[in-house]
Amino acid sequence: QEFDLVLKNAFVNGAYVADIGVKGGIITALGLNLSPTEDTQIIDCEKAIVTPGGIDGHVHLAQDQSPRAKEAGYRCADNVETGTRSAVAGGTTTVMLFAEQSRGQSLLEAVENYHALVASQGSYADYGFHAIITDPSEKVLQEELPVLAQQGIMSMKLFLTYKHMRISDHQFLHALLKARELGMIALVHAENGDLVDFFTEQLEARNLTDSKYKAIAHPSAAEAEATNRAVTFSTVMDTPLLIVHVSVPESAKVIRKAQANLQPIFAETCPQYLLLGKAKLDQEHFCGAKFICSPPLRSEKKDIDAIWRGLVNGTFNIFSSDHCPYRFEDPSGKQLGLTRADNGNPQGMFTKTPNGLPGVETRVPLLFSEGVLRRKCIDVKRFVELTSENPAKLYGMYPQKGAIQIGSDADLVIWHPESFTPRRLKHSRDLHDNCDYSPYEDIEFLNWPKITVLRGRVVFRDGVVQGRSGYGNFIKRGKCAMPVVRVMEQEWDVLHAAV
Ligand code: URP
Ligand code: ZN
Ligand code: ZN
Ligand code: ZN
Repeated sequence: QEFDLVLKNAFVNGAYVADIGVKGGIITALGLNLSPTEDTQIIDCEKAIVTPGGIDGHVHLAQDQSPRAKEAGYRCADNVETGTRSAVAGGTTTVMLFAEQSRGQSLLEAVENYHALVASQGSYADYGFHAIITDPSEKVLQEELPVLAQQGIMSMKLFLTYKHMRISDHQFLHALLKARELGMIALVHAENGDLVDFFTEQLEARNLTDSKYKAIAHPSAAEAEATNRAVTFSTVMDTPLLIVHVSVPESAKVIRKAQANLQPIFAETCPQYLLLGKAKLDQEHFCGAKFICSPPLRSEKKDIDAIWRGLVNGTFNIFSSDHCPYRFEDPSGKQLGLTRADNGNPQGMFTKTPNGLPGVETRVPLLFSEGVLRRKCIDVKRFVELTSENPAKLYGMYPQKGAIQIGSDADLVIWHPESFTPRRLKHSRDLHDNCDYSPYEDIEFLNWPKITVLRGRVVFRDGVVQGRSGYGNFIKRGKCAMPVVRVMEQEWDVLHAAV
């Protein structure tokens, strides 16, 4: 057998030592003492752990078309080139990006435009799209969605909050009915928009607008209520769905209960809800604005511990970054979150600060470092499920992605053998995105990917990105392959739907 690349002595998924043979970008052999030929590139892993390339199920890049982004007056810090360069430097080889429809816009046009934008900027990583549907008209659902499914865009994100994006409950049910028919998976941003708007209005009326009030404006009840509603709708429609960026135990419990009732509910959480508490919002010099996201950071004790427990016990199926970066010093000269009050003094305004944190590069190393090595609460197998295997299954690209198996794409992360010296990151020196801070600068990393391989090519090695933008391919995806207990083979029947 001939190979382009052989990884010698790989501690595959922390389970067994083998050589991995790669030909044409695909894993073609797994075994002992694979023999290279003259032109085979050899990497000796020295028994370092090797895991499948990370799949980040939730990444916002160059998503500036939306009215919400325009209204906020800030640009997403990363385009596709810088965002995916950052991804591969942190062991992520596939990213799921968002093609966002504006209200009144054709969904197909929104997706075509985003396709063109991604191609023009060039991706270092492989990528797929979730379609954000803000206007689920009859035409969009009946005519356009089936076309997207044919194009391998098998997921949609639906918002229950944000004024320019939220859909009504009635629209939500129609979207689920269509998702069911097409075998698409719906991602839900579950916060009750009216509740958040009401709390925000009450805070504004009292002039309480510093970053720390963000946590009060988005109470856990808003998340729990919307999660419960989404789970209820999934049940009556007998349609799987995924609750994204879960941040509170009240929601995790609703999800856990639904799962225990054998309902096809999946859930995602993100590094910020495991590692950052709301105290970060309360800092001098308006630095709290760096930590504004939705849902917001939560309480250090009650919430963070519970989210860790949900990660360990399987309530959460995937671990994504929700990378959505804004620079603290915007190129326009504006400082994030800061406006001038009537008296001319600077004033922090969480209501005028765009939502989102950077994190596509730190996601995989953070979970390895904090979950596997420091807390030792998950093993390498669970780490692989959360960061790669489950997103691949959920989003219909398994086992092309998310597995170290014969026939899978040779997307691989080689970790440092045990000799890694723990270190903190310096944003400007160590990270490859275009943001100007990392929320994780205080954290000491206990390991970091040494080498990232995408389809048989080394794209990152020893701190240096070696790939090129434009190498990344669009991944055409199939149906969700997570084990779902009810197969939706029959048409949904209103007469049998009552729960
Ligand atoms: O704060 C966040 N999460 N920003 C990104 C947009 C979203 O809702 O996922
Ligand atoms: Zn209707
Ligand atoms: Zn969201
Ligand atoms: Zn997001």
